[in-house]
Amino acid sequence: MEQHMGFAVILTCILSVIVLLVLGRQVIWRTDNKKKRLPPGSIGWPIIGESISFFRSINSPYQENRRKFTDEHESRYGPIFRCSLFGKPKTIVSVDPEFSKYVLQNEGRFFQAKYPSSTVKLIGKYGLLDVHGELQRKLHGTAVNLLKHENLESDFMEDIQHVFITGMKKWEKQRDIPIQHKCHQLVLNLMGKKLLDLPPAEELEDIYKAFDEYIGAVLCLPLNIPGTAFARGFKARKTLIKKIYECIEDRRQHPEVNHNDLLTKLLREGIYSDEIIADLILFLLFAGFETSSTTMAFAVKFLTENPQALKEITEEHDAILKSKGKDDQTLTWDDYMSMKFTQCVIKETLRMVSAAPCVFREPKEDIEYKDFLIPKGWIVFVFLSGQHLDEKYHFEAHKFNPWRWQNEGHEISQNPWYMPFGKGGRLCPGYHLARFEIALFLHNLVTKFRWEPLEASSAIYFPLPSMAKGYPIRLHSRLQE
Ligand code: HEM
Repeated sequence: MEQHMGFAVILTCILSVIVLLVLGRQVIWRTDNKKKRLPPGSIGWPIIGESISFFRSINSPYQENRRKFTDEHESRYGPIFRCSLFGKPKTIVSVDPEFSKYVLQNEGRFFQAKYPSSTVKLIGKYGLLDVHGELQRKLHGTAVNLLKHENLESDFMEDIQHVFITGMKKWEKQRDIPIQHKCHQLVLNLMGKKLLDLPPAEELEDIYKAFDEYIGAVLCLPLNIPGTAFARGFKARKTLIKKIYECIEDRRQHPEVNHNDLLTKLLREGIYSDEIIADLILFLLFAGFETSSTTMAFAVKFLTENPQALKEITEEHDAILKSKGKDDQTLTWDDYMSMKFTQCVIKETLRMVSAAPCVFREPKEDIEYKDFLIPKGWIVFVFLSGQHLDEKYHFEAHKFNPWRWQNEGHEISQNPWYMPFGKGGRLCPGYHLARFEIALFLHNLVTKFRWEPLEASSAIYFPLPSMAKGYPIRLHSRLQE
C-alpha cells in the first residue's frame, strides 16, 4: 500500500512537472512570439520619441534628405516598423505599399480612422474623418455623389472658370504676388461659392480669416488655452459653423431664391439633420481647400524650377487656345480631357508633395499580418509621402520629373505605391474635382502670365506643406506681348 502511495506521488510529481513544462513553454513561446511578431523598431526619447528627427528629415531643405529618417529605419527594420511619433509611443509606420493597401482597404473591418484629438475636436462630431460604420459610408456616398466625375462638367466647369478668370484678372494689376496665398484665395472663393453660394473672399474677410485660423489649428496641440493656435482655431470653428447655420436659415426663409450650391442640395434631399449638414459642409471646405490650393502652388514652384516642363505645359495650353479662335476661349470638357502633359504635372506634383502626407488608422482588434502582430491600442501611420519618395519605386524620386507619367492615361495612376488620395472606404471623394481645379488653374496661369520667383523660397512638407512667404513671384502679362 505504502509502495503504491509512493508510486502515485512520484507519478503525480512527474506529471505536474511535465504539465508545468508544457504550460511554461507555451507561455514563453507566446511572449516570445508576441515580441517577435510586433514589427521591429525603436522608441527614442521619452514623450518626444523620434518626432524631432522625423520632422527634421521630412522638412529638410535638401530634397534628397526628405526620406532620410524613413530610409534609415527601413534599412534597419524593414518597411513596417515600430516607432514613437507625435507623443504616441505605440506607433507602427508603414511605407510598405502592400500593407498600406491592406490597412486602408480594411477600413471599418479590421481598422478604422484615428486622427489626432486636435483634428477630431475641430472637425466636429460629424466631420467625416471621425465618423465610422454605417454613417461614414452614407456620408462618404453623399460626398462621392456630389463630387463625381460626371458632375464636374455640369456643376463645376463654369464656376471654376469664372472664379479663376475674375480672380486672376486682379493679379494683373498687382504684379508681385505670393502665389500660395493667392491660390488659397482662389480655391476658397470657389469652395465658398460651390458649398454655400458665398460671394468672393475679398468681400468676406472675416470668413477667410476664420478659415485660416481654423486650418492652422488642425494638427496642433489641443490646448484650449486663450492665445494658443488651437483656441483660435476652435473659436474660428464656431464662427464658421454659425455662418453655415445662417445660410441654412436663409435657405428656409427664402425658398424662392435659387442657390446653386451643395447646401441647398443637401437641404432639399432632407436626409440629414442640420447638425450633420453643418459639419459635413465645414469638412468639405476643410478637405477641399488647403489640399487643392497647396498642390496648385507647389506645381507653380516645380514648373518655375524646371523650364523644360514649363515650356511643354505652356505649349499644350497655347495649342488648346489656338484651336478655339479668339471669340470664345471658354474651355470645354474635351479640352480638359486633352490636357495630357498637365495630368503628368499634376501626378508628379502630388507625388513630390502630398497635401495629405499620411493617414492614421487604429486596429479594431489584434491583427495578424504576415509575421507581424498589429495590436489593438496601437496607431498605424500610413506614410503616403514615404512611399511616394521611395527610390525603389521611382527613379530619382527626389527630382520633379513629370515625364515619368507620360505613358499613363488621364485617370489617377494605378501604381500600387502611389496613393495621394488614399484608398479603400475613405478614398478621397474629391479626387476628380481636385485634379480638375488644378488643371484649369494651370491653364489660366500659363496662358495669361509669364513669371519669375522673387526670392529662393524654402518649403516645409509636414504636417501641412507650405512655402516661406507663400512663394512670391513677379508676374508679366502675356496678353501684352
Ligand atoms: C490635392 C487635393 C487632395 C488630396 C491630396 C486629398 C487627399 C485625401 C486623402 C489622402 C484622403 C483619405 C483620408 C483617410 O483615408 O483617412 C482624403 C479624404 C477626403 N477628401 Fe480629399 N484630398 C484632396 C482634395 C479634396 C477635395 C477637393 C475634396 C472635396 C471638396 C476632398 C474631400 C475629401 C473627403 C470628404 C474625405 C473624407 C472621406 C471619408 O473619410 O470618407 N478632398 N483626401
